Amino acid sequence: MSMARTNAGGGAAAPDRAFQPSIGQPVIELKGVDRVFHSDRGEIVALKGIDLTVCEGEFVTVVGPSGCGKSTVLNVIVGLLDPSAGEKFYKGKPSRGVNRNIGYVTQADNLFPWRTVIENVTFGLEVRGIGNRSEREDRGRELLKRVGLDGFENHYRHELSGGMRQRVNIVRTLAYEPEVILLDEPFGPLDAQTRLNLQDLLMQLREERPETTFMFITHDLAEAITLGDRCAVMSARPGRIREVVEVPLGHPRDVYTINTHSDFRRLFDEVWEHLAEEMRGGDGG
Ligand SMILES: Nc1ncnc2c1ncn2[C@@H]1O[C@H](COP(=O)(O)OP(=O)(O)O)[C@@H](O)[C@H]1O
Ligand SMILES: [Mg+2]
Repeated sequence: MSMARTNAGGGAAAPDRAFQPSIGQPVIELKGVDRVFHSDRGEIVALKGIDLTVCEGEFVTVVGPSGCGKSTVLNVIVGLLDPSAGEKFYKGKPSRGVNRNIGYVTQADNLFPWRTVIENVTFGLEVRGIGNRSEREDRGRELLKRVGLDGFENHYRHELSGGMRQRVNIVRTLAYEPEVILLDEPFGPLDAQTRLNLQDLLMQLREERPETTFMFITHDLAEAITLGDRCAVMSARPGRIREVVEVPLGHPRDVYTINTHSDFRRLFDEVWEHLAEEMRGGDGG
């Protein structure tokens, strides 16, 4: 797949870019958030006392055991679910209902089957009245090219592989440039090379729009450390934020070589130790 950056593919050279994230005011704040689900078999406490602040321009990754409530946290943040208890703020103000400033890349692609790839990608721009048709299509085409999908603009969902659908799904959210982008295991169905190329694209987008705030769920700890300024480790259900690990690996990040950074292994082990304890059944707390 062709990508825009010339050293895509893993050259040893660091990117020749000067970029430092500028971290601003809190954008997302959860304070003591619980979420309980009721079903025929009783109550499931999915989240218990979630405290988390994510500031403008930050990239926070989230890891945790399967079923610990990672997706539920994102659903609460975007407003698809209300907290059962606790408080939620967006840019310092209490927030309820679906937040249209937040873009959400879910695990399922949800592409419109009756729209072509480019029509799916420009949909978010269209409903927000951004640009005219040809401007929207230019923006869409540029992003599709950057994920190796040029030539597929007029294809329909059923004509794409799972990995291609997921790339369209990601581009569809990136296209309208939301203030906050939430991604729920977005690279799951992708092969290792495509995954690296998309990690690189996210790092490039951060540099192009440093005010964008990211939350990124992954089960891949190396990915969590590669991308994050901080990595939040969640406890086993009921989900809490067990630990937030700072990831001081510097910027700009070259996703192709960052795993050779002298601190990478230490950070990986630190996150892994927290996660392993949760998978073993917690630390007794
Ligand atoms: N809509 C729902 N109704 C009932 N239970 C749910 C619902 N959504 C999630 N859960 C439960 O809440 C817990 C956390 O789910 P989820 O957030 O999907 O976890 P994760 O994304 O970490 O795998 C799980 O036990 C799951 O079964
Ligand atoms: Mg999930």
